[in-house]
Amino acid sequence: MEVVISTAPDETGKLAADAISELLRRQPGAVLGVATGSSPLIIYDELGRRVAQGSLSLARAHAFMLDEYVGLPADHPQRYRNVIREQFIDKVDIDPKQVYGPDGLADDLAGACEAYERAIADTGGIDLQILGIGTDGHIAFNEPGSSLASRTRIKTLTSQTRRDNARFFGGDVDAVPLHCLTQGIGTILESRHLVLVASGRRKAEAVHQLVEGPISAMWPATALQLHPHVTVFLDTAAASRLQLASYYIETYQGKPSWQGF
Ligand code: GLP
Repeated sequence: MEVVISTAPDETGKLAADAISELLRRQPGAVLGVATGSSPLIIYDELGRRVAQGSLSLARAHAFMLDEYVGLPADHPQRYRNVIREQFIDKVDIDPKQVYGPDGLADDLAGACEAYERAIADTGGIDLQILGIGTDGHIAFNEPGSSLASRTRIKTLTSQTRRDNARFFGGDVDAVPLHCLTQGIGTILESRHLVLVASGRRKAEAVHQLVEGPISAMWPATALQLHPHVTVFLDTAAASRLQLASYYIETYQGKPSWQGF
C-alpha cells in the first residue's frame, strides 16, 4: 500500500488524476470504477480540466459505479446515478451509455446485483477503482460487519452513515434511504488498482485503521491491506493519526522518478 500525504490543498486531486491519465494513455478503453461522496470531487474536477484542455480523453473508457440507494425516484438529485452524471459524466467526454450502476429501482434487487457483477466481468473487470472512506471505515456502502469476501448485494446503512449523509438531504436523516445496493468488498478487491482519497480530520481514525490497523470486518477498509496495488492519497488532516506518517513521507520523497502510481 502506497500512502501519499499532500500538504498543498489541491495536490491530492492532481496526483490521483495523474494515475488515471497515465492508465488512459496506455489503455484508452480502460474500465474505471467511480465513487460518489465529496472526496472524489477534486479528482473529477481535475479530469474535467484536462479533458477541456485537450490533454485527456475518456471517450473510449467505461465506468462502473460503486453503489446506489434503494428506492430513490429516478429524478431524485441524490440518486447516485444522478450525482455521478452531475459530478463526473458531465465534466468529461465519457459516453454516458458506457457508465453503469446497480439498479436501485429494480423489482428484483438480488437479480440486479447478480446482473451488475456479470456486467463488470463482461467488460473485463475494473482497471482502476476510485474510493472514498466513511468515518466508520466503510468503503462503497460496506458497513462494519460486512463480509470481507462479499459481492454486490443489498445492505442496510448504519445510523452513523445516514447521519453523515443527511447533509445531502437537507439535513434530514429520515430522508436518507435505509437500504442500498453496493459492490462487495470481494468485488472491489478484484479491481486491478485501488485509489483511495481522504481529507479532513473526521477521516483520520478510519484512515489510521485502513493503513495500520488489524484486518477486521469492524473496519471494512482494512481489507485493502490484502490487495497488491493500492494508492492512498491523503491531506495532512486525514493523515494526522498515522503512526508511520514520517516514513510514508520519506518513502514518497525518495521514490524513483520512473516509478508511477
Ligand atoms: C458514502 C459513499 C462512499 C463514500 C463515503 C464517504 O456513503 N457510499 O462511497 O466513500 O460515503 O463520503 P465523503 O467522501 O463525502 O466523506
